[in-house]
Amino acid sequence: MPAEKSIYDPNPAISQNAYISSFEEYQKFYQESLDNPAEFWSRVAKQFHWETPADPEKFLKYNFNISKGPISIKWMEGASTNICYNLLDRNVRNGLGDQIAYYWEGNHPDDYSRGLTYRKLLEEVCRFANVLKDHGIRKGDRVSIYMPMILELPIAMLACARIGAVHSIVFAGFSPDSLAERMFDCKAKLLITADGAWRGEKPLYLKALCDTALEKVEEMGHSVEKCIVVSHLKRVTPCQPDHVEEEIPWTDDRDYWWHEEMEDKEPACYPEWMDAEDPLFMLYTSGSTGKPKGVLHTTAGYLLYAATTFKIVFDYKPGDIYWCTADVGWITGHTYVVYGPLANGATSVIFEGTPFFPGNDRYWSVIDKYKVTQFYTAPTAIRALMKFGEGPVLKHNLSGLKVLGSVGEPINPEAWLWYYRYIGKEQCSIVDTFWQTETGGHVITPLPGATPMKPGSASFPFFGVKPTLLDECGIEIKGEGEGYLVFSQPWPGMMRTLYNNHERFEDTYFSKFPGYYCTGDGARRDADGYLWITGRVDDMLNVSGHLMSTAEVESVLTEHPRVAESAVVSRPHPVKGECLYCFITPNENEEFDQKMISELKKMVRERIGPFAMPDVIQNAPGLPKTRSGKIMRRVLRKIAVNDRNVGDTSTLADEQIVEQLFANRPVEA
Ligand code: WT7
Repeated sequence: MPAEKSIYDPNPAISQNAYISSFEEYQKFYQESLDNPAEFWSRVAKQFHWETPADPEKFLKYNFNISKGPISIKWMEGASTNICYNLLDRNVRNGLGDQIAYYWEGNHPDDYSRGLTYRKLLEEVCRFANVLKDHGIRKGDRVSIYMPMILELPIAMLACARIGAVHSIVFAGFSPDSLAERMFDCKAKLLITADGAWRGEKPLYLKALCDTALEKVEEMGHSVEKCIVVSHLKRVTPCQPDHVEEEIPWTDDRDYWWHEEMEDKEPACYPEWMDAEDPLFMLYTSGSTGKPKGVLHTTAGYLLYAATTFKIVFDYKPGDIYWCTADVGWITGHTYVVYGPLANGATSVIFEGTPFFPGNDRYWSVIDKYKVTQFYTAPTAIRALMKFGEGPVLKHNLSGLKVLGSVGEPINPEAWLWYYRYIGKEQCSIVDTFWQTETGGHVITPLPGATPMKPGSASFPFFGVKPTLLDECGIEIKGEGEGYLVFSQPWPGMMRTLYNNHERFEDTYFSKFPGYYCTGDGARRDADGYLWITGRVDDMLNVSGHLMSTAEVESVLTEHPRVAESAVVSRPHPVKGECLYCFITPNENEEFDQKMISELKKMVRERIGPFAMPDVIQNAPGLPKTRSGKIMRRVLRKIAVNDRNVGDTSTLADEQIVEQLFANRPVEA
């Protein structure tokens, strides 16, 4: 093993064949992309089909400065296209009809495997688009999707895109309450789901959860008229037949089986030509005030950006096999399981299961089985797998790998090195990709053949992205330093608004520093110009790559009838990155006991989802508040890690409380 270095040059074998083969070449293209964005992206647009071509005069129009009027971002306005046509028909026409678009790997290695060629995928998408049309879905209608990682998921998404319906996917790990809230907010007309999914040993009965959610939406005053259900559990379970006896709850005239609806449908469907700025999809992300935000992405710019980042950041070449482990329910799955890979005619793997089933080598065995060349996963998964050492890795041949991606949270250098040495055998490039639901695609990332890597640094901006660091007063930090990470001009893939709430869009992202899009993250620039993401600067936390707000969890906790007040902070966690540490003030004369703790955990699980489960719930007879009533969270963060260096507490209304909270820390914390 070499001594730990601070910088790792790309493997020359990768650089030689890469689209961007040196740092100088990156800098040259990068400069061009900033100097003349319209020219740069119109070259990219040439590879796609435009039913109405773009007017070069109107290629990019925007206002990023709130003090000059409403924020607006428009790319290629007036041009028309269909993204599904570009992903499927165009590739089939270009001779890729017989190429595999997706391999499907089930939860259990003995589940039957499936593959879909581009031609077959196009047919299935058209048939399902016809199903949607028969159910009255038209351009602009919202369709909610709550599905496991099965091939019907991209089919459903692309069918929506084909007819101009706006898909709104809700990750199937979310609770029925969260699903209901999201379907209500977007006034979904139809829901697509499956009877269930497999997670390791257990089936998860999704349809039952959907029924609860559909009832809730009804109570809220909106009716989702139809529900289409894929029959998944039975077809893939030769291994665990006893698990699927459960009856799937059904409501006639509302629920329809996918396979029955598909039976008599034509495998062709004329695409709906969409304006470049027509909505493509919305995806909810946590907001710091608690209510989720419906991030809206549009058609043309998103296509250009998903396609280009996928191609360049993973250096995808014909013949490569790409695998992204992210669930399609998150933005990573939207852009880098579906839109980006298909726009490039790529072959990908979709995996239903978990890294630990049936053994801790499952990821490595899947890489070996399909001869994966690009692998994209999250630091939390790497840290969880590192614990089992090199043994499970050595059982498999990973020599096909070229590029290893990381996403969702900062990757600590220890996990980076393990990934580099044991998975990449020091031959692969690691791309630590920083981005957000809102950015649509990678915005800060190394390029595999061009960027010398520093473990833990997301390094440099992608084409068209102009990062700036600002101090609290909005003054730019030039050279070395740390500050708020903001962007000063639009790139094609960025969101355009929050669904039905442009005001919240402007407030959240554009009002703190007029003239800039504010990421909500901090970053440091080192002496070599590398950017290091330092984490959220707002009250958001990142548990295993899932972003959530402390307010969101607090509002669930305070719903408990015996709880007066709560405060949630993030605490570092060796595998999850961060975890939830909750302070609970019970009502007067109420006991804080084990029963309350389990009830609170259950509530969070049911209201938000299992991934939001608190690690610690501590009794807090009082909270450290300033005289104006603001909770001093930095003090709570210190208590959570048992660090007595709490700093200045003189502005607290009652300084005693800090000592009391230290004394109250539960033993297991
Ligand atoms: C937040 C966005 C982007 C897809 C998954 C998450 C954090 C994401 C990195 C990275 C450091 C990262 C940021 C960001 N984040 N990638 N490579 N290094 N931090 O999407 O749920 O919208 O979360 O995740 O804090 O703001 P998201």
